[in-house]
Amino acid sequence: MSKAASKMCTGSIRQGGGALEDIVSIAPVGEPRQKITVASLREKKLQHQPITCLTAYDYASARLVDQASIDIVLVGDSLAMTMLGYPDTLSVTVDEMLHHTKAVRRGVKRAMLVADMPYGSYHVGADDAVRNAARFMKEAGAEVVKIEGGEKRADLIRRVIDAEIPVAGHIGLTPQSVNVMGGYKVQGKSLAEIEQLMRDAVALDRAGVAFLVLEGIPREVASMITAEVATPTIGIGAGPDCDGQVLVFHDILNLTFTPPAKFVRRYGDAAALITDAAHAFREDVIAHQYPADRESYHLCKETQQALETVLERKRGMRR
Ligand code: KIV
Repeated sequence: MSKAASKMCTGSIRQGGGALEDIVSIAPVGEPRQKITVASLREKKLQHQPITCLTAYDYASARLVDQASIDIVLVGDSLAMTMLGYPDTLSVTVDEMLHHTKAVRRGVKRAMLVADMPYGSYHVGADDAVRNAARFMKEAGAEVVKIEGGEKRADLIRRVIDAEIPVAGHIGLTPQSVNVMGGYKVQGKSLAEIEQLMRDAVALDRAGVAFLVLEGIPREVASMITAEVATPTIGIGAGPDCDGQVLVFHDILNLTFTPPAKFVRRYGDAAALITDAAHAFREDVIAHQYPADRESYHLCKETQQALETVLERKRGMRR
């Protein structure tokens, strides 16, 4: 092939490449939207505007969730089960959480990016907690870290906040305490438990948490806490009276392979979509229906002609 022909025909199959035919995807440039901050969440609470939060664990889902104008994207340690197939959240490590948080960071522009501190990353002491929390900010670009536990964690949370790291609280059913709770059980059902939950909420509010996740508690208790604290409450299995709601991405899309909890509402069936697509692809390949000519790359005319000439010459030499 001549140098000129090769130059004319070269095109990258990646974005920013060259020949138009060869560009596989073009990312649209989004409209600038107002960034969600700790202050804007407080403002939403004051204005009684519901706050929305979904988990996301990778670039693509984070980008879609952010583009849907969800306020908070949470890289939850539920990724231990949804993404990594562990039986519970206990075994996921700081490094695994950082890996997913970095991917989510690349997909999120407007939403507040929150990362869960995994089990063991803040249980040894405050110095260790600050060191680990700082990794989520410096290495992965998280804006807030979430720590499970109430009153007994208030001092530690204060230490992390003092290190300029915003913290979200999480009380009620705290999955990292599954072995202490004896299972994933609704919390705050007795008067003594309600009193403790109120103390937990007030202690974290005073410590200055950015928001407070209320998980697996009666609606009535969540409503009382929401009225009592200045920080926004984000409920999951805590009824409709919280300042906002959070659900797990895989739960709302039927990607968990287990029956959903009572509070889960399914908004789509990605399992069916993926299964159908995988079957259809397999059938097309087996039936030689994929790829079609229009899904194939082609040589440009000049190269094709040059190649023909070379092949013709070779055929001639063989005769
Ligand atoms: O890990 C997680 O997904 C969570 C939510 C359930 C709040 O902590």
